[in-house]
Amino acid sequence: MSKSTAEIRQAFLDFFHSKGHTVVDSSSLIPTNDPTLMFTNAGMNQFKDVFLGLDNRDYNRATTSQRCVRAGGKHNDLENVGYTARHHTFFEMLGNFSFGDYFKEDAIKFAWELLTGETWFNLPKEKLWVTVYATDDEAYDIWEKQIGVPKERIIRIGDNKGAQYASDNFWQMGDTGPCGPCSEIFFDHGDHIWGGPPGSAEEDGDRYIEIWNLVFMQFNRQADGTMLPLPKPSVDTGMGLERISAVLQHVNSNYDIDLFQTLIAAVASVTGATDLNNKSLRVIADHIRSCAFLISDGVIPSNEGRGYVLRRIIRRAVRHGNMLGAKETFFYKLVAPLIQVMGSAAVELAKQQSTVEQLLKTEEEQFARTLERGLALLDEELAALKGDTLPGEIVFRLYDTFGFPVDLTADVCRERNLKVDEEGFEKAMEVQRNRARESSGFSADYNSMIRVEGVTQFSGYEHVQRQSKVVALFVNGQQVDEIQVGESAIVVLDDTPFYGESGGQVGDKGVLKASGGEFAVSDTQKYGKAIGHQGVLSAGKLAVGDSVEADVDATRRDRIRLNHSATHLLHAALRQVLGKHVAQKGSLVNDNYLRFDFSHFEAMKPEEIRQVEDLVNAQIRRNLPIETNIMALDDAKEQGAMALFGEKYEDHVRVLRMGDFSTELCGGIHASRTGDIGLFRIQSESGTAAGVRRIEAITGENAINALHQQSDLLQDVAHLVKGDVNSVTDKIRTLIERSRLLEKELQQVKDQQAAQESASLSGQTKDVKGVKLLVKQLDNVEPKMLRTMVDDLKNQLGSVIIVLATVADDKVSLIAGVTKDLTDRVKAGELIGTIAAQVGGKGGGRPDMAQAGGTDVQALPAALAGVEAWVSDKL
Ligand code: ALA
Repeated sequence: MSKSTAEIRQAFLDFFHSKGHTVVDSSSLIPTNDPTLMFTNAGMNQFKDVFLGLDNRDYNRATTSQRCVRAGGKHNDLENVGYTARHHTFFEMLGNFSFGDYFKEDAIKFAWELLTGETWFNLPKEKLWVTVYATDDEAYDIWEKQIGVPKERIIRIGDNKGAQYASDNFWQMGDTGPCGPCSEIFFDHGDHIWGGPPGSAEEDGDRYIEIWNLVFMQFNRQADGTMLPLPKPSVDTGMGLERISAVLQHVNSNYDIDLFQTLIAAVASVTGATDLNNKSLRVIADHIRSCAFLISDGVIPSNEGRGYVLRRIIRRAVRHGNMLGAKETFFYKLVAPLIQVMGSAAVELAKQQSTVEQLLKTEEEQFARTLERGLALLDEELAALKGDTLPGEIVFRLYDTFGFPVDLTADVCRERNLKVDEEGFEKAMEVQRNRARESSGFSADYNSMIRVEGVTQFSGYEHVQRQSKVVALFVNGQQVDEIQVGESAIVVLDDTPFYGESGGQVGDKGVLKASGGEFAVSDTQKYGKAIGHQGVLSAGKLAVGDSVEADVDATRRDRIRLNHSATHLLHAALRQVLGKHVAQKGSLVNDNYLRFDFSHFEAMKPEEIRQVEDLVNAQIRRNLPIETNIMALDDAKEQGAMALFGEKYEDHVRVLRMGDFSTELCGGIHASRTGDIGLFRIQSESGTAAGVRRIEAITGENAINALHQQSDLLQDVAHLVKGDVNSVTDKIRTLIERSRLLEKELQQVKDQQAAQESASLSGQTKDVKGVKLLVKQLDNVEPKMLRTMVDDLKNQLGSVIIVLATVADDKVSLIAGVTKDLTDRVKAGELIGTIAAQVGGKGGGRPDMAQAGGTDVQALPAALAGVEAWVSDKL
């Protein structure tokens, strides 16, 4: 019996544990602290700073099974997934790491022992091939002399990608960061499969498969390409769990290993597919892994960044489900089998199962609606297509209107042997981007154009007023020496109490006073490490070098502080009331209100909103001290400070603590104690996107004013109903009851009136060929009453043909009634049709009762006069 994937994962970790390595948990798919990286894409990511010597751990050997996503960013495999035997959006990378401890020799010996050792993987040595970086004689010698791999199975690979160090055997995490030469181990799947050894013309075949990459970390690559040596040579290795499982389970395709076979069976069962070889099953089995894990690591489908990649993968999966004939929402149903099959790697995912399922379901339902319309359009376009390339504008239209990612369109085209005009698509995208840029207005352009050197000292935590000096001036993005009265500009000072917009908190307003001029600041923004004051020179002149007194509008600032502190209380309260899945998704803090977006999957119930509001107000009454401390990021995290996913933090961070209730990383400006906030009121709770809710709230004076307004309103209402605040509900209830009674009485009166009217009408029939005919225009009768009257008249007269008309609001209402004994000769529907046609209307109905309307009031008398002749004709 070959080992299961779960057993292979465990064996790897056990092996390295027995060699003195600390077993470390997989890190999140969202790289913490690394803005250069979209998703975690290798085991070494979480150790990047350790390799660089910026971080220390209490171990210098580690081993992990790291979840990785390669979709979007530098290592992007999305388009290949499903069409090859080995590409995945999600995979697990087994790795061992040395941080300045062992180097090439031990790394190679460990790898060989695990792969070939009888008690371990026991692979036949003659099936293993290795590569080394062309100039790495040291590694070559270890393989040849110490391990004993024959020369013909050791291959040197040089810079085969067009630049120095650009090589299959030189690994780098990204354009910058730790890197070094590597040595790769290949497994020969046998001559029944096409392909050649690495470096040969046939290397892309499936026969020789790379299973393990041993990287000898030596350099830190700089943005300009310089290679700085690392403090200590280190080791980083990566072995795809799915690949090694394929080798150990004697299958060639990763999709044939136990883990994928189980998932593929689950996909077949939820989609109803019967052909287990259909590649769509593999696509879906792959995609549920990346989607479920991305969501449980905090990514939410959206139209940008990580969320957009996630959305694309979900949509690709759903579309393949449709191709398999799935009739209903299916994708979320795969979360449960996934958790099962991933075992110990799914501990976190299991905790969030229902959250992940809900989000996938919502996303799929939403997509199903656009998919149908989009695919129909695509079909139409493809049917009309001349040549073999789908034009870029159509690809763009599908993207723009139906949310079709380009790769989805490309996928559909690929199935029909068609190409996609990607260049044309890019052009259309560019046009749209420009449009968006133009419409975003003045300040955005300003920001992108301004390049400010140097650093502004920020003194706004302690001060709202400061003596300072002008160091730079910008007008329309151009640096100038002086500005004149009336000119809009950006002023940069060497030291300022003005807060530059960041972390959701808006920029300060205020005034800069110089001896020769005054500058009104309408906004403050950050430009790199400089802070720029935007506004207009309201008097005199201002020049670089001038001394100024920088005065922040302190009243406004105070309101902002209260709102910002309340935001932290709100965040913590939401987590207490709704659960730990609540994470900040966006925030805005200004002087009027605060807005907080957070992850949560359904509308908050009124009682939850009340609970959150009460909890925040309770913290306000506790009057907790609000303290800030600067500390190392790790210490901050250890103290439980909430940090935002994917946000880049400096090594030292500002930690904001409100008693025992809230601890967050924050660079904003806050109240001194929670009591300063005074009062907190939630104004609204709403949804902004799938899985994201938004709360808007007010504090302090604003909240009190809102209360005043509400009580004024209540007073006004009480006054109107001649009551007071205490009796107002009773008064209104009585009024409603009374008006209900009055309506009822009025209806009775109307019914009586109609009955009387009918009674008087019953004497006004005419005899037409022995049949009674009643034709009458009535005044002061509501159209609604006509029907009742016709019924009454039929009852009274037994056998009769009736036509009644009334005019209200310049519109004619008509009704015709014919008793059953006459309907074989005169049909009410036909009769009413003839009359209606003469008054500019249409009508219809049954043979015994029909109604119509019309607009030509003038024509009504003549139309009614014609009825007798028409009826007589029929009789
Ligand atoms: N970091 C190396 C890789 O991803 C091991 O291949």
